[in-house]
Amino acid sequence: MEPREYDEWYKKSIENRDEFWDKIARELDWFEPWDKVWEWNEPFARWFVGAKCNIAYNILERNATTWRKNKLAIIWEGENGEIRTLSYYQLAQECEKFAAVLKSFGVRKGDRVTIYLPRIPEQIISMLTCAKIGAVHNVVYSGLSVEALSERIRDSQSKILITADGSYMHGRTLELKKIADEALSRSPTIEACIVVRRIGEKMIVNMEPGRDYWYHELMALRLANEVKTEVMDAEDPLFILYTSGTTGKPKGVVHAHGGYMVGTYITTKVDFDLKEEDTYWCTGDAGWITGHSYVVYGPLLNGATEIIYEGAVNYPYPDKWWSIIERYGVSIFYTTPTAIRGLMRFGDAWTKRHNLSSLRILGTVGEPINPVAWDWLYTVVGNGRCPIVDTYWQTETGMHTITTIPGMKMKPGWAGKPFFGIESLVVDDKGKPVRAQEIGHLVLKPSWPSMLRGLYNDPERYREKYWTTIPGYYYTGDAAKIDEEGYIQIIGREDDVIKVSGYRLGSAEIESAIVSHPGVNEAAVIPKPDELKGNIIKAFVVLKQGVEPSNELKQEIIEHVAHELGSIAKPSEIEFVESLPKTRSGKIMRRLLRAKEVGTEAGDLSTLEQ
Ligand code: WTA
Repeated sequence: MEPREYDEWYKKSIENRDEFWDKIARELDWFEPWDKVWEWNEPFARWFVGAKCNIAYNILERNATTWRKNKLAIIWEGENGEIRTLSYYQLAQECEKFAAVLKSFGVRKGDRVTIYLPRIPEQIISMLTCAKIGAVHNVVYSGLSVEALSERIRDSQSKILITADGSYMHGRTLELKKIADEALSRSPTIEACIVVRRIGEKMIVNMEPGRDYWYHELMALRLANEVKTEVMDAEDPLFILYTSGTTGKPKGVVHAHGGYMVGTYITTKVDFDLKEEDTYWCTGDAGWITGHSYVVYGPLLNGATEIIYEGAVNYPYPDKWWSIIERYGVSIFYTTPTAIRGLMRFGDAWTKRHNLSSLRILGTVGEPINPVAWDWLYTVVGNGRCPIVDTYWQTETGMHTITTIPGMKMKPGWAGKPFFGIESLVVDDKGKPVRAQEIGHLVLKPSWPSMLRGLYNDPERYREKYWTTIPGYYYTGDAAKIDEEGYIQIIGREDDVIKVSGYRLGSAEIESAIVSHPGVNEAAVIPKPDELKGNIIKAFVVLKQGVEPSNELKQEIIEHVAHELGSIAKPSEIEFVESLPKTRSGKIMRRLLRAKEVGTEAGDLSTLEQ
């Protein structure tokens, strides 16, 4: 797309927003059409009002009954070298069988199902099956641990948990069922736990009679030949995905069938210039929004063939990913800046050993990409031929909102311009657009189809978090700059959300895990800039009276956080302090700690308790 074309199309999409989204939505299948494209009742949006659809229908039936029937949907490779493929027809069959299983457990439209699975085909099958029968999936990343999992089960009041015996990662096995068992003891709503066998005999798992069932045994029962795909209202919830916010409790972001389907479908198609013959690979995990939108829904709605790799980026050798690109002829490769920086460190030779000429489009997501990493990706990986699509978006936006569409002029370090039909602005505290090159708050004008529909069971928190900071606009929580040509650069979070290796974590969540260690009285965590991970977590810890600080204790606290939340939330640095700076009303001033640590201005300190 020529830059001029983008400007023209963009202008048209904003001037005739309804027409624009109406036209895109018609590329998909609906059981009944909409009366109205969208409706706004601040802060609640409804899209494709009155329409009936099912997102899973558009992936399963739609592709399995056309010429794409035998096209591969998924090429999966395990960390242990195992390979599985699923055509669209086979994928539809698996979901049909699993739908019968879930129905036999009494799962009905609207019921919540928690999915705690590693990156294996069953993760996708479970999600699509929930969608097919109208259940609401709640996927929890398999790297999260006991408390993170049980809290998400409790808050969503799930009645089924789908997990696995274990998973492979970095050549080790992770005992998922064991973590699930501990989480289940803290989450009373679960009636049945379905366990996928990934490791097999090598791993002994506890199966509780009457509660735990093997997935493969249930699937072998062939409970029904056909399960009807549920007719959903476009606004019916499709999933809840918990994400870290500024307070301790994660927020249950809710997305709906219709709008989310349209948003993920079109952004995958346009932003990656997706063609029928492409081999697409998004390295994200379906446990996060990137995986929901750009591993599961977006590519499969487009009938793409995609690669899914179970394991870690550099195991057993630093060229594992490059070998995957070469062996399968990956043409679209979508990953995080942290992964790129990590791979860059091993030197060019690992990359150059492989023929990467199949690559056509490169994409990044999750954090700003620094120009050095951008250059390396462009020249060494893409051989100077492949556009880099820097995609800025959030769990809440559901789809890419700002990006550099292939063909547009690229500016390393600048995400790009708003996607069609979406208006984004950089504003001051009063909501007035700032001048070019000045830093301000990034906001979006309501609404776009895959905007979150709210926070699960918490409309007040939804209003307060997103709609009160800058009245009339959706507040992203990010600071940004806009240049003279309308390109947007993301500076980073302005709230207490920390991005570590592209993972989103809340300071309060980590603090509460630290404080649950018996020796700790109080804690505050801040992001500390890091060349590889973007940020690392630094924790300031006040110990209980009589508890002696030591390096062993630091290690113990770190392991405690890993056990409660997962390894990704582990602080990299702990500093024991006597007290924490607080406001007169008792709130910890993380801003001050951060300023001291990284040597920046602390801003207004008038509320600091002296
Ligand atoms: C950050 C991930 C810079 C940002 C899809 C946002 C980015 C948060 C980019 C959402 C990007 C995402 N450039 N920063 N291209 N993409 N972010 O919900 O701070 O896990 O608010 O969604 O990631 O994180 P989330």
